[in-house]
Amino acid sequence: MSIRVTRNIDEVRTAVRDARKEGRKVGLVPTMGALHEGHASLVRAAARDCGMAVVSIYLNPTQFSPSEDLDKYPRTPDNDIKLCESCGASLVFMPSDEVMYPAGKDAILTRIEVPSLAANLCGRNRPTHFAGVCLVVSKLFNIVQPDVAYFGQKDYQQAAIIRQMVRDLDFPIKIEACPIVREADGLAMSSRNAYLSAEHRRQAAALSDALFAARDAILAGELPTNDDVTEFVADCIRTNAPAGRINYVQMVDAEDLHDIAFPVGNIVIAVAVKFGQTRLIDNIYMELP
Ligand code: PAJ
Repeated sequence: MSIRVTRNIDEVRTAVRDARKEGRKVGLVPTMGALHEGHASLVRAAARDCGMAVVSIYLNPTQFSPSEDLDKYPRTPDNDIKLCESCGASLVFMPSDEVMYPAGKDAILTRIEVPSLAANLCGRNRPTHFAGVCLVVSKLFNIVQPDVAYFGQKDYQQAAIIRQMVRDLDFPIKIEACPIVREADGLAMSSRNAYLSAEHRRQAAALSDALFAARDAILAGELPTNDDVTEFVADCIRTNAPAGRINYVQMVDAEDLHDIAFPVGNIVIAVAVKFGQTRLIDNIYMELP
């Protein structure tokens, strides 16, 4: 069966209703396009678990601040559709801004926020970002009405916020968080990696190297406090990626995302580093005694 592509909400709803009538489960993978193997892993998971895998491709303006990279964000629609098809998706929803925000984004007066989960990490530097994500994901959930929605651990904070939002607002949707897909040298795949110069691309592997080294050092009992962990990671990055400007290096509780004093329990070490204008993020999740 070949893939269907639509920009139209009613067509999505009809296709989903028909799939349900046939007893098929519906999985949704929300994306902003410029798809790569990280996205592909989510689409494959949706196609594996559900009779109907829907991918949304929408470069959502409400999650970018005016100073961010919305205008130059990579757009590769033809490749994206091919990748969705090859991963087993049956429907691609590619709405225009007019479909998502018919009266303009400023006409949306509703705010959906999860302040305590959005305050730390990326939310510190991008104070309006997660409200934009919650808004568009809620709209996509209401348009598609999936049984399951797939998110990547790459954006750990985003997945945590969406999970909380779904719980708090009784969306009848199961949230699946999928592992981070990495390049051969460890760099987490990202649509933004395409912006990197060859030299920055080479240095960017320092992020994952630093996180993996920190994991090993924590397991060996060598980094007993938060400061030990974050200084270790920051040092590794400063040494191996001198062109990188560290935005943050933090160790937080995996549930509430607040800083923790010691590496105990379920933790996340997360980093954001800028190379030129390109901001890269990565993280590692650990279950500790
Ligand atoms: P985007 O950056 O396109 O990512 C779409 C999904 O792919 C997210 O859930 C993200 O975590 C996941 N993803 C990206 N890189 C990955 C990798 N290397 N390994 C595993 N998963 C990866 O995140 C967004 O879009 C937007 O904020 C969105 C949720 C679509 C709302 O606009």
